[in-house]
Amino acid sequence: MLSIIMEEKAQVAVIMVPFPAQGHLNQLLQLSCLISSYGIRVHYVGSATHNRQAKFRINGLNPLDIAKIHFHDLPIPAFVSPPPNPNSSIKFPAHLLPSWIASLNLRQPIAEYLREISSSMRKIIVIHDTLMAPVVQDVATVSNAESYVFNCISTFTESSRVWERIGKPFPIRLQKELPSMEGCTTDEVKEFAALRFNHLGIRAGDVYNTSRVIEGTYVDLLAREEIVGSRKVWAVGPILPFKLYSNSLHQCLEWLDKQGPKSVIYISFGTTVSMSDEEIKELALGLEQSKQNFLWVLRDADKGDVFDGEVRRAELPEGFVERTRGVGMVVRDWAPEPEILAHPSTGGFMSHCGWNSCIESITMGVPIAAWPMHSDQPRNAMFTTDILKIGILVREWTKQGELVKASMIENVVRRLMASDEGIEIRKKAEEVAAAVRMSTEAGGVSRNELDSFISHITR
Ligand SMILES: *[C@@H]1O[C@H](CO)[C@@H](O)[C@H](O)[C@H]1NC(C)=O
Ligand SMILES: *[C@@H]1O[C@H](CO)[C@@H](O)[C@H](O)[C@H]1NC(C)=O
Repeated sequence: MLSIIMEEKAQVAVIMVPFPAQGHLNQLLQLSCLISSYGIRVHYVGSATHNRQAKFRINGLNPLDIAKIHFHDLPIPAFVSPPPNPNSSIKFPAHLLPSWIASLNLRQPIAEYLREISSSMRKIIVIHDTLMAPVVQDVATVSNAESYVFNCISTFTESSRVWERIGKPFPIRLQKELPSMEGCTTDEVKEFAALRFNHLGIRAGDVYNTSRVIEGTYVDLLAREEIVGSRKVWAVGPILPFKLYSNSLHQCLEWLDKQGPKSVIYISFGTTVSMSDEEIKELALGLEQSKQNFLWVLRDADKGDVFDGEVRRAELPEGFVERTRGVGMVVRDWAPEPEILAHPSTGGFMSHCGWNSCIESITMGVPIAAWPMHSDQPRNAMFTTDILKIGILVREWTKQGELVKASMIENVVRRLMASDEGIEIRKKAEEVAAAVRMSTEAGGVSRNELDSFISHITR
């Protein structure tokens, strides 16, 4: 029996088509490892630079698992890789657009690649980032191929956007008004992102990195016929490896080892946010004044090509490092976020609320100080603070144009790390985490959906 199943699986190949931005490259690589652990052959396709980036920054994945993934470098034209603008009033990393536009040229090589391997396989399953829909449109011409969209976004945010786009055809109950999408991105980026709508019709189903335990209501919304027709929807997350693999012992983990339990607030705004010198100064002073332990990852946003030259090293206020010695640590390089959040000394997370960061924090039971910057982040922030109630806002999205002052930072950090309110929020975060983790274990709802997705694609 087992050998028959293995044989069936051997005739199915999965082709992963990630979107070339860190939070997306990493997710699809994790999903690749997960699917490959079911004995299915997985191909990961993209430009040489972005494949290299995905492999270079593996987070918590075992190199032995990565070695089983078949990477294919496909050609794209050279693209400019300008630095981010830390002074821009819109925080969206619009400087990445040239690399994304260049990646649209993957369509031809991917089509050829699909035709080539489809002849030797019973079935080809293409799993692509929603933004890559234009690039995989030729799936429709390969008779034994099916495509699935992997969404690197929360179903709360996605359902609210789809619901607005299709004219709010049914009521959704919310205690608070949804944050506006104003200022979340630029017009050029909107145009680029809209290219996908012409090509999503061919997909066979949708996969989300979320758990029904936290987002069941919104997964159901996205599964409504008005939205997906007869397509299937699976919520298979959170897909963190069950045991985080330590790729290297980062100095910040050693530092965390020396701090008290849950005493440290971790501050990071991901790979797509650059802050101005002024914002950095206020944040630094606010942290100092809060007198709480902190671990601050201070980096500029990625460039389109992360291997392309120097990045800005933002200045900290004079004497800051000396004055906060022993209390805080500033990290300037790549930091192992899942391991930091899983560390017993970490007790809070000041975050831009990218979905990866949110779900990592949710899974680890770390309460959030939400400071959304762009894209889906304002709504993710609403979801974590208002709906899950596992965090507080640093500032309202309506005040996005205003400088966040040191006094606001100090206040938020104290509330989260050293107040009765903070203790309540942490308790809630720990409860949610326990439920979410259980959903990924044998018999849990996320694990069941993952198994069901695997049986579906290998049917
Ligand atoms: C899913 O979410 C986890 C957080 O639990 C994140 O670390 C990971 O990158 C995501 N994985 C996939 C495959 O989306
Ligand atoms: C941003 O503004 C600061 C002054 O506020 C200036 O020194 C810096 O050069 C500017 N950076 C860019 C990339 O425009």
